[in-house]
Amino acid sequence: MAIRGVILAGGKGTRMGELTKVTNKHLLPVGPWPMVYHPLKKLVGAGLQEILLVSGTDHMGDFVELLGSGKDHNCRLTYRVQDEAGGIAQALGLAEHFCMGSRSCVLLGDNIFRDPLVPLLEKANSRPDWAWIGLKQVPDPGRYGVAELKGERVVGIEEKPAEPKSDLAVVGIYIYPPDVFGLIKTLKPSKRGELEITDVNNHYLSQGRMGCSVLDGYWTDAGTLDSLDYANELTRKDPPRF
Ligand code: DAU
Repeated sequence: MAIRGVILAGGKGTRMGELTKVTNKHLLPVGPWPMVYHPLKKLVGAGLQEILLVSGTDHMGDFVELLGSGKDHNCRLTYRVQDEAGGIAQALGLAEHFCMGSRSCVLLGDNIFRDPLVPLLEKANSRPDWAWIGLKQVPDPGRYGVAELKGERVVGIEEKPAEPKSDLAVVGIYIYPPDVFGLIKTLKPSKRGELEITDVNNHYLSQGRMGCSVLDGYWTDAGTLDSLDYANELTRKDPPRF
């Protein structure tokens, strides 16, 4: 089954203070590039050439100016506007027509990691009708979605739990079968008013259709001032592999 790439680069960016007063978080520098180049290069490096970028109304023009048709990056880009930051799952829902019955490899635009995507995609190809997530051990799991494992099996995921059941964060790398879009239509907003990707993942879990890969290399989000600094430090010391 074919697979298409989706980069989610919307959201409010409220945690970046003055840095995002006139621009979008995903256009800030990480290493030698704007942040959004990282997910783009990961997807292209894994052989995905049909890529959708989702962002809000405010800076979509800047993304188009920066990336154009995608030809300089060896891919074909499609853009969709998310009118309001209604959550990661809502942003992914906008990819339904673009994916046209294909699977999707979804990257959060503010996630920076060392490993190439190919091993994850190969593992996911073993069961194309499952959802696949990336995991990484972190010192501060309560900031993220947190997976509970029994052996190698994920048995539960909680979004930003006060008392995390493990130190394994669910990173912003998700591979879904085509039925994810029907599922998103059934979601209700969470307490923070968003359609949560953790609800999507828990649905697959309850159906026994969830697989995971633990990343070997570093991973961080770059959505706060501290984590943006950290992402720059990591990528300077050890550039990501695409
Ligand atoms: O970074 C990994 C974490 O990302 C996961 O562990 C969590 O389970 C997941 O919920 C998410 O947590 P955050 O609360 O940190 O996500 P944030 O709101 O920062 O959004 C992450 C990316 O998703 C960001 O780069 C922009 C995109 N996004 C987000 C929202 C809310 C959208 O494109 N549209 C949106 O409406």
